[in-house]
Amino acid sequence: MSGHEVPPGAAVGRALAHESAALHVTGQALYTDDLGVRMAGLLHAWPVGSPHAHARVLGLDVSGALAVPGVARVLTREDVPGVNDAGVKGDEPLFPDEVMFVGHAVCWVLADTEDAARQGAAAVQVTYEPLPSLITLREAMDAESFQGAQSTLRRGDVTVGFAGAAHVFEGEFELGGQEHFYLETHASLAHVDESGQVFIQCSTQHPSETQDIAAHVLGLDAHAVTVQCLRMGGGFGGKEMQPHGFAAVAALGAVLTGRPVRLRLNRTLDLTMTGKRHPFHATWKAGFDADGRFTALQVQLTSDGGWSLDLSEPVMARALCHVDNAYFIPHVEARGRIARTHKTSQTAFRGFGGPQGMLVVEDLLGRVAPLLGLDPHELRQRNFYRPGECTPYGQPVRHAERLETIWAELLTSSDFHARHAAVEAFNAANPHVKRGLAVTPVKFGISFNFTAYNQAGALVHVYKDGSVLVNHGGTEMGQGLHTKMLQVAATALGVPLASVRLAPTRTDKVPNTSATAASSGADLNGGAVKDACEQIRARLAEVAAGRLAVHPDDVRFEEGRVFPLGHPERGFPFRELVHDAYHRRTQLWAAGFYRTPGLHWDREAMQGEPFKYFSYGASVTEVELDGFTGAYRVLRADLLHDVGDSLSPLIDLGQVEGGYLQGLGWLTLEELRWDESTGAGRGRLLTQAASTYKLPSLSELPADFRAALLRQATETGVVYGSKAVGEPPLMLAISAREAIRAACAAFGPPTQPTLLASPATPEAAFWALHAARSLLSPPTEPDAPGAIQGVPT
Ligand code: MTE
Ligand code: MOS
Repeated sequence: MSGHEVPPGAAVGRALAHESAALHVTGQALYTDDLGVRMAGLLHAWPVGSPHAHARVLGLDVSGALAVPGVARVLTREDVPGVNDAGVKGDEPLFPDEVMFVGHAVCWVLADTEDAARQGAAAVQVTYEPLPSLITLREAMDAESFQGAQSTLRRGDVTVGFAGAAHVFEGEFELGGQEHFYLETHASLAHVDESGQVFIQCSTQHPSETQDIAAHVLGLDAHAVTVQCLRMGGGFGGKEMQPHGFAAVAALGAVLTGRPVRLRLNRTLDLTMTGKRHPFHATWKAGFDADGRFTALQVQLTSDGGWSLDLSEPVMARALCHVDNAYFIPHVEARGRIARTHKTSQTAFRGFGGPQGMLVVEDLLGRVAPLLGLDPHELRQRNFYRPGECTPYGQPVRHAERLETIWAELLTSSDFHARHAAVEAFNAANPHVKRGLAVTPVKFGISFNFTAYNQAGALVHVYKDGSVLVNHGGTEMGQGLHTKMLQVAATALGVPLASVRLAPTRTDKVPNTSATAASSGADLNGGAVKDACEQIRARLAEVAAGRLAVHPDDVRFEEGRVFPLGHPERGFPFRELVHDAYHRRTQLWAAGFYRTPGLHWDREAMQGEPFKYFSYGASVTEVELDGFTGAYRVLRADLLHDVGDSLSPLIDLGQVEGGYLQGLGWLTLEELRWDESTGAGRGRLLTQAASTYKLPSLSELPADFRAALLRQATETGVVYGSKAVGEPPLMLAISAREAIRAACAAFGPPTQPTLLASPATPEAAFWALHAARSLLSPPTEPDAPGAIQGVPT
């Protein structure tokens, strides 16, 4: 049976609740920080954070801390036996002698209680020599402060494309970052066993890399460090690279004191110390023919990487690979560079640069549509990829026809055209309240751009009683990966779900794992789990074939029974077979492996086929906007998304809805503000609590919210015909932003472009609608301060 076919009675495809749902909602699910209370002699770690955005550390006096009762030790740079670096780029000193952002930890205090550690940290004396700092992206660009590689993605010749264009537009755009705000903040818990083995429990999406970094900080071989992740209370990319340094500090503390060490950031520390989604700046020039089809696109993207590289380079690569979104653009030149600023080191966040790249082209289309005399939905559809076309990086767009299919189905199911007319009628009748309706597509590449990461392992045990234990290399962060892996194992072995259990992710069970990221957790680990199960099943089929007197190929495994093809009545229980097999000395466990076939990527040239396939979707959002305040509500959202043949439809729907809402937060509510003044607080994150950083919640849910999965969408070559789901739906929220733009535009004359800042907060929407309204009659109110933030007028 080939990889995508689903056997009868399969556990995949069933709408199941998350395997830990009951534990989540009753508070019984354990997270890393819940495990420490069970340990005797536990020490708590607290950082001494820099008050400066940029300064040299001239002196460090820890004696005050050691005088605080309960303080056991202060960890400083002199304590590091190995490499004093928390990253993989060699640019993140774990104990720095030059602090690079407000909150940067200079050293860590360990104490019997968290309170004592905190008091100890306050008693540490650090002497700083303040240095000049760059806080905003513009300051960094003006100072030409860049880091890492600059890359260019090119196809054809844009000068030819512009020469042949009927219309050429230019613009500038700036979009904001986003705080992950996972419910569980960063947490690590380390101890050392009797043989000197370091064991770290960590809320990490990348246990193997946490292991590598902890080992190099400690000066140990990787085999001496084990990292386990039970589950995370959300990661969203924020725990892909950022946990390593914290884990290393906890491990160092455990090695030096012989006591278990717990390091958990409280919310303020987490917000001020850890990286966020990259803000981006873009300048662009776009050419269109007389029918509104792209002839060329030239873009310069600059991301704000913060103080160190972290994942900024691959994030930029993904941004450049997504500036096309769903559109065929014959001539493309997209340049990317990463600014260095004195802020937290910006990192992975759901979509990994893809949303930023896509937003640039969607913003551009939303702006120029009126100048081309086209409805935005018409302009978008005209530019869709068609079958046979390639992306600017040379990858054929497999299943491009799904864009049209999804678009057509969604326009029908959302009653788009009738509602569009109704919105126009509403707007004509209401001078002070306007509605906006918009539809936008998503095309998102699945696989890590970095080819080597597209591999995974699993270890599956069948015990003598027929029960099954699954280990795999992926981590669970709420996305439902473990639920899907249980379903895959039960399907591949033909046993009931209830007889399969999943063990926590550990680096000593499955080594050299990739981050659970790029939405590829189920594709990769599913492939590995299936491989392991199929090896076991093949051995069992040999044993069953003897008993049933048939060829091993004709043995069927279904729901815990084994029978000859076509003769379920001749079957017997799986556990009996396992019992027999054991007594015949059959290996009842297997290591599975999967590597995504057919990928190649030239990082320098930015050409190749980095993705196994594309994930498609589209969404329609309708908003209502108040002309006096800029306040808006999302009245209705319709989402249609392609997840192939869903492994777990309830999980996938949850991902689609959750992704949209998280995207809605990024695009409309969440605004990171930093102190840009020259005062003493320069560089401080001003939005360092939920009171000032507005997150989407139940009240922001669209009043009418309809999400659906595309039917008949089998993806051959992926585990049981499924597709990844984790990140792409976030970008469905772009239609909400475009709907807000449409509503703002409705306050002004037609055929004028409407500029909208990102995030499109009510304040931003107010200035946008104010600008639109001013075109009707001379403004009576003062102009917006500095016009619309980040948008040239
Ligand atoms: N869903 C929940 N509930 N919590 C999360 O932290 N992370 C997202 C997405 N969905 C996340 C989530 C991100 S950034 C990614 S890359 C994928 O899940 C990772 O999991 P997967 O590869 O198993 O889809
Ligand atoms: Mo997701 S941003 O790839 O962890």
